Amino acid sequence: MTSRFPDGFLLGAATASYQIEGGATEGGRGASIWDTFSHTPGKVVGGDTGDIACDHFHRWQSDVDMMADLGLEAYRFSIAWPRVQPTGTGEFNDEGIEFYKGIIARLKDKGITPLVTLYHWDLPQALDDAGGWLSRDTVDAFVAYAVRMVQELGDDVEMWTTFNEPWVASFVGYGAGAHAPGHADDVEALVAAHHLNLAHARAYRAIKSFRPDLQVGLVNNCHTPRPWDPSNPKDVWASAHIDALANTFFHEPFIRGTYPAVLKPNTAHLTDWSFVHDGDLAEMHGAVDWFGVNYYASHLVRHNPHKGAATSDVATLADGHKAGANSPWPGDEEIEFMRPLGKLTAMGWNIDPDAFHAHLLKIHRETGKPIYVTENGSAWDDVIAEDGRIHDADRIDYFRGHLAAVLKAIDEGADVRGYMAWSLMDNFEWAQGYAKRFGMVHVDYDTLVRTWKDSAYWYRETLRTREIAP
Ligand code: NOJ
Repeated sequence: MTSRFPDGFLLGAATASYQIEGGATEGGRGASIWDTFSHTPGKVVGGDTGDIACDHFHRWQSDVDMMADLGLEAYRFSIAWPRVQPTGTGEFNDEGIEFYKGIIARLKDKGITPLVTLYHWDLPQALDDAGGWLSRDTVDAFVAYAVRMVQELGDDVEMWTTFNEPWVASFVGYGAGAHAPGHADDVEALVAAHHLNLAHARAYRAIKSFRPDLQVGLVNNCHTPRPWDPSNPKDVWASAHIDALANTFFHEPFIRGTYPAVLKPNTAHLTDWSFVHDGDLAEMHGAVDWFGVNYYASHLVRHNPHKGAATSDVATLADGHKAGANSPWPGDEEIEFMRPLGKLTAMGWNIDPDAFHAHLLKIHRETGKPIYVTENGSAWDDVIAEDGRIHDADRIDYFRGHLAAVLKAIDEGADVRGYMAWSLMDNFEWAQGYAKRFGMVHVDYDTLVRTWKDSAYWYRETLRTREIAP
């Protein structure tokens, strides 16, 4: 197997607006649900907020220069909706739009391809006040925002993502209550998920109607559930239920115009699914050009009739934090996630490049669409050594193993076209605040000084040679 990346394969790094920007009340930016959530006591470890984050809002020029020094071919970032349209409807904020135009112009000047995400969880607070993703009005608001962004930036950005990880936005935000807006309701999670899918489809169609040349995709997190005992049909059922909720829920409607068949019977005791209106699935059918895969770890699940939802530690595994009052898996009352095996990262997640390889092939098989790895990386308890450097050998090993998995999947036929390391630099890790560091570049949150870790030098070498560096 080759260790060389194919011609045209994009190697880059990713970030997201609320995690790096700061400048939360500057430049005309409105409030988002993450401002509200992070300022609510007890929601984020250490009471951390994104008020300042990495101060990218003021340091974006030198940050883009750093990306060029690293040799990035592509940079995936998100637009903060409340920065460009403070209340999510009505007036747009030119200053906010100019901010992103500046970033894109500088990236292009350095030869770095921008991949723009329209929604990485920072919903304008005013829209949440009006019902958030439980309301179909938010779907319409999102479409209008998406269209305006493409009108403004479409000449310089070909690769667009509507949503980042709709499973997390809906099931962790509305089901587990561990992310903004912090609701803990099984049915709300399903409703929000459906509305996110509908918003994707409508935005896709609206964008393609005037810019058919642009590539509009959807970025999904993945769970790679395997049954604890593959010979036990109930464990196999448990694994299939998680796969349907976490994975196929967010690609089957766009490929086949259906929701996974197992979901309705599995959730019949919760809801009748009347939130899916006639015609919604037809709108979704065919509405995607590519899929993004965010991969971190794998999961072993089993059927356990004695588990009870309250003992679920699923969210710990799914998103690195304890669940709120609820589990993020509607209908999961008898499903148990097993403790991960082997060496664990600082998030408590396992390291399983084989599951990544299998997942890429699965998405290829089930969707037939081009795939971009839009996030992959690991958090470690990095320390600055006496020599002033950060020797993050574990992070390098993780990248090496997972890049090899990508090459193997390509070798076996998966149409994978790019890889964005998570993350360019340490940042606000949602409910974990600044305690978890995923960056290739270290951020000192007192001085905001950026320091390259060994993994950054290693990645630069990989980018230079386009082979996985030793
Ligand atoms: C996926 C999310 O998109 C990103 O925002 C987060 O930081 C990483 N997972 C790590 O948890």
